[in-house]
Amino acid sequence: MTIFVTGGAGFIGANFVIDWLAAGHEPVVNLDKLTYAGNLENLVSLKGNKKHVFVQGDICDQGLVEKLLAEHQPRAVINFAAESHVDRSIHAPEDFIQTNIVGTFRLLEAVRAQFAKMNDAQKSAFRFLHVSTDEVYGSLSLTDPAFAETKRYEPNSPYSASKAASDHLVRAYHHTYGLPVVTTNCSNNYGPYQFPEKLIPLIIHNALVGKPLPIYGDGQQIRDWLYVGDHCSAIRAVLERGRLGEVYNIGGDNERANLDTVKALCAILDIARPRSDCKAYADQMTFVNDRPGHDRRYAIDARKIIAEVGWRPAETPESGFHKTVKWYLDNDAWVKNVTSGTYRNWVAQQYQ
Ligand code: NAD
Ligand code: DAU
Repeated sequence: MTIFVTGGAGFIGANFVIDWLAAGHEPVVNLDKLTYAGNLENLVSLKGNKKHVFVQGDICDQGLVEKLLAEHQPRAVINFAAESHVDRSIHAPEDFIQTNIVGTFRLLEAVRAQFAKMNDAQKSAFRFLHVSTDEVYGSLSLTDPAFAETKRYEPNSPYSASKAASDHLVRAYHHTYGLPVVTTNCSNNYGPYQFPEKLIPLIIHNALVGKPLPIYGDGQQIRDWLYVGDHCSAIRAVLERGRLGEVYNIGGDNERANLDTVKALCAILDIARPRSDCKAYADQMTFVNDRPGHDRRYAIDARKIIAEVGWRPAETPESGFHKTVKWYLDNDAWVKNVTSGTYRNWVAQQYQ
């Protein structure tokens, strides 16, 4: 048996594949387009591992996906592939529509064709797990309850709207065609291999190279942070024990205002790698123009996955932040490679 992962050279997908194989599970076929966010260096620890088959390709290429599914006959498909950065979706939404909506549709069509060829035992064992985001639910006020699975979808960015559309397609393929799907909607992740366009790796990187630490607006937007390894363990648990057609929200009960997150990272860096002038990294914080349509608060109500699936996060916010800072300090060659070339163009455009 194998599993088929899409987007497994990106941040969460790579962590998932590495953890999956480290735990001794089945081989993985990993389909990734290798966009700017996909990086084979994330998978370097799997070099020579016969249980990892990497294929460079696009989920929009239905023929390729059909061929791979027929060849490898996976017992599960886990869809991580997406355009994932909100700010990029504001500058250039087209790729988000293509990959997140059209790509999910093509992938579902390919899976539906393969599912139709399975025998009853294969059908009952098969799962399509769609990895989605809490951003589909929109924005909360300070007094609103956290996002439950029953919360109405109110996406506010081209990114979240495209993910919302993909979630609806996945739901429709279950109800219309009986495809055995489960969807997970997770809060903000952080950890190893995250591309430094996202807040936490961007702050660590900028701090270390002496650049400003850009805080959008008043810095009081709240995010509910979860260590990536805990997201991956939740996906494994839902794959094993999630009920068909259900949605599971995933979160670590770790709501923080962005300003507090940045200050916490600066404080860890002050001890782990003090500035040569002995000043505080927090001195580099700079307030910049806000993100258009910036969601104020996300918060996850994770009671369903805890009660039904028996999942809980292993990391506390403190342990997760410390681990992450240490990883970026220990992996400066990885950071140097991903922050060369086109990364510079993005930073120049976004923070000019
Ligand atoms: P990422 O941007 O780091 O990685 C995305 C990966 O998908 C890259 O390797 C990229 O090359 C690949 N990809 C993009 N378009 C593709 C296509 N058309 N065909 C095949 N591969 C393609 O993203 P991430 O942060 O790892 O997020 C993974 C998934 O998890 C996404 O679906 C995202 O919406 C979801 N998610 C992310 C977070 C988060 O905090 N990062 C939280 C919740 C959910
Ligand atoms: O909630 C889950 C989502 O989390 C995922 O679906 C997305 O793929 C992922 O990118 C993330 O979205 P956010 O927009 O919340 O993450 P980002 O790291 O871009 O920003 C986190 C917060 O920090 C957000 O309120 C914007 C703010 N920010 C971000 C950047 C890049 C800043 O203040 N300054 C910055 O330079």
